[in-house]
Amino acid sequence: MNSDRALYDRIGVGYRVGRREDPRLAAAIHEALGTAQTVLNVGAGTGSYEPTDRDVTAVEPSSVMIAQRRPGSAPAVQATAEKLPFADGAFDASMAVLSDHHWTDRMAGLHEMRRVARSRVVLFQWDIRYVDSFWLTRDYLPDFRHKVAGGMTADDLALAIGGGSVEQFPMPFDMRDGFLSAYWRRPEAYLDVDVLANISVFALMAAADVETFVACLRADLDSGEWHRRNAEILDLPELDLGYRLVIG
Ligand SMILES: C[S@@+](CC[C@H](N)C(=O)[O-])C[C@H]1O[C@@H](n2cnc3c(N)ncnc32)[C@H](O)[C@@H]1O
Repeated sequence: MNSDRALYDRIGVGYRVGRREDPRLAAAIHEALGTAQTVLNVGAGTGSYEPTDRDVTAVEPSSVMIAQRRPGSAPAVQATAEKLPFADGAFDASMAVLSDHHWTDRMAGLHEMRRVARSRVVLFQWDIRYVDSFWLTRDYLPDFRHKVAGGMTADDLALAIGGGSVEQFPMPFDMRDGFLSAYWRRPEAYLDVDVLANISVFALMAAADVETFVACLRADLDSGEWHRRNAEILDLPELDLGYRLVIG
């Protein structure tokens, strides 16, 4: 727990500014929760995607993240996914949004999510099979492929929560929540250090490597090379970059 808690205690500062809830993703998650009235949000962060019309409890290890939750948002318990401090079947549903790849023991956390949920588990996650689908990681971060090696596919996740369905979430061109692939059609955004600070892939890189990345991307944007290479995506309203809702 200590390493991941320390990670978001370090990189979580300012999270609520750069990582705003996207209404289209929120609607998809709320629909996936079905009729669940009591919901546990695991790795809840600052509270994005928590439905306001249900009884939500948040679990979050980082006090920096908890401190950024809005007044009046769901009560947060400081704990980790691997050891949820709740009885079996204590909630109708459990959910985790872009969190389980940070857990120290991912399988243990997924089993815990299943244990505490009576009827539904909802995960929003990126499928490792899409490792080459995004120009940024493919063309500018050669180490990314190694860093995520051994990660899970959406089908692996579905199996881990006892079976379920997998739904695509194609990334809108104007995605509001600034996670890794959000700016796929707005490459200039990745030149902004404040944008990069809220993306864990960059927050975990050495400062010199981030500077090299920014310099390479800037050069390709200035020369027109980026536009030549990515011409086919420039008019698309959305793009499937491997984000999935897994509903168990
Ligand atoms: C990318 S943030 C996502 C936050 C939120 N779900 C959202 O969508 O904005 C990942 C979150 O997972 C939390 N986290 C890291 N390790 C965890 C663990 N072992 N158990 C539960 N949450 C964890 C982090 O502290 C962080 O708040």
